[in-house]
Amino acid sequence: MKALITAGGHGTRLRPITHTKNKHLIPIGNKPMLNYAIEYVQEAGISEIGIIINSGDQEIKGAFGDGTKMGLNITYIPQEAPLGLAHVVKISESFIGDENFIFYLGDNILVGGIRKFIEDFENNGSNCHLVLSKVKDPQRFGVPEIKKGQIVSIEEKPANPKSDYAITGIYLYDSSIFEAVNNIEPSARGELEISDAHQYLLDSGATVTFSEITGWWKDTGKVIDLLEANRLVLDNHSPINSGNIDENSTIVGRVSIGEGSHVENSNIRGPVIIGNNVEIQDTYIGPYSSISDGCKIIGSEVEYSIIMDKTIIKNVNVRIEASLLGHSVEIRRSRSIPETHRFMIGDQSRIELK
Ligand code: G1P
Repeated sequence: MKALITAGGHGTRLRPITHTKNKHLIPIGNKPMLNYAIEYVQEAGISEIGIIINSGDQEIKGAFGDGTKMGLNITYIPQEAPLGLAHVVKISESFIGDENFIFYLGDNILVGGIRKFIEDFENNGSNCHLVLSKVKDPQRFGVPEIKKGQIVSIEEKPANPKSDYAITGIYLYDSSIFEAVNNIEPSARGELEISDAHQYLLDSGATVTFSEITGWWKDTGKVIDLLEANRLVLDNHSPINSGNIDENSTIVGRVSIGEGSHVENSNIRGPVIIGNNVEIQDTYIGPYSSISDGCKIIGSEVEYSIIMDKTIIKNVNVRIEASLLGHSVEIRRSRSIPETHRFMIGDQSRIELK
C-alpha cells in the first residue's frame, strides 16, 4: 500500500503566518503539523509516500527531503493550481499505479493513528473506505447519508446535511477511484470535489464502506483549530526535562523542557512543551502552551498559545492567551513617555488589545 499526503494550498485563514510559512509546517506540540500524518502512515507500515505540494514549493522538500532519514521513500507531486482534492488524486495516478492507497489530508490531526482504518478497509475488501467523525457543523464538510448502516449518498458542504457526520480527510482506495476522478466535472467553486468522486463510485455500484473516529479529530483551517490540536497533542505527550530550572521556579503537571533552556523565578503549569535554548524569567506559562526553540519570555504570562521559534515576549503586563505567534516576533513593554502602543505589523496581522 502507498500513501498520498497533501501539503499544498495557501492557508489563507492563517495569514500572515502563511505568507512566509507553509501551513503544514506550523508547529503543533513543537513539531511541524505534517509530521503527524507522515508518522501515522509510517507506523501503519507504509514507506512509499507521495506528498502533494504547490508547484515551485521548496519548503516542504527542504523539511522532509527524500525521506531516507526517516526510513521512507518520499516522492513530491506538484499541483499546478488548487483544482480540488479529486484533482490531487488524478495527477497522482502514475505514482500510485494499481496499488491500494491511503489519501491523507496533511492538515487533519487525530489521536490514535490510522492502522484500524486500514484494517477495516482490508477486511471489508471495499473499493473505497471513508473515515467519518460526528461534528456539530457538518455543513463545512463532505457529508454522507447513511441508511441501514450503508452510505447511500455523499454531498460536499450541504446546506441541509443528511447526517451529523463529516467525512474526514482520511480516505482508502483501490484503483477504481481513478475512473471516478477522471469522469467528474468541476463544481461551482471550480474544483474537482472528492465528494463528487465518492458519489460517482456509489452511482457506478462500487462498494463504499466506512469507519468512525470516536476520539479526537480536527482539520486545522483556523487559529482556534491549531490551538485545539496543540491542546490535544500536549495532553498526550510524555514529558522530558533536559533544561535548567532554578529553585525559585515551580513546575507542575506534564512539562517538557528542551536542552539549553533556562527557567528562573517562574511558574510553569503543564501540559506545556518548551523547546531548546529557551529563556524563561519571572514568567508564568500556563496549560496548553508550546514554546519553540530560542524564545525569550521575560516578566510575562502566556497560556494556551503556540509561540514559534526565536520570539521574544518581554514585560507584557497582560496575559497572552489563545495566540499564535510566528517566528522572531517581538512583543515588549515600552518604558517611554507618553504611554503609547507602537507597532510594526505585517499584512493581515491581527491584534486584540485589552
Ligand atoms: C475537504 C473535503 C471535505 C472534507 C474535508 C475534511 O474540505 O472537500 O469533503 O470533509 O476536506 O478535512 P476543504 O478542506 O477543501 O473545505
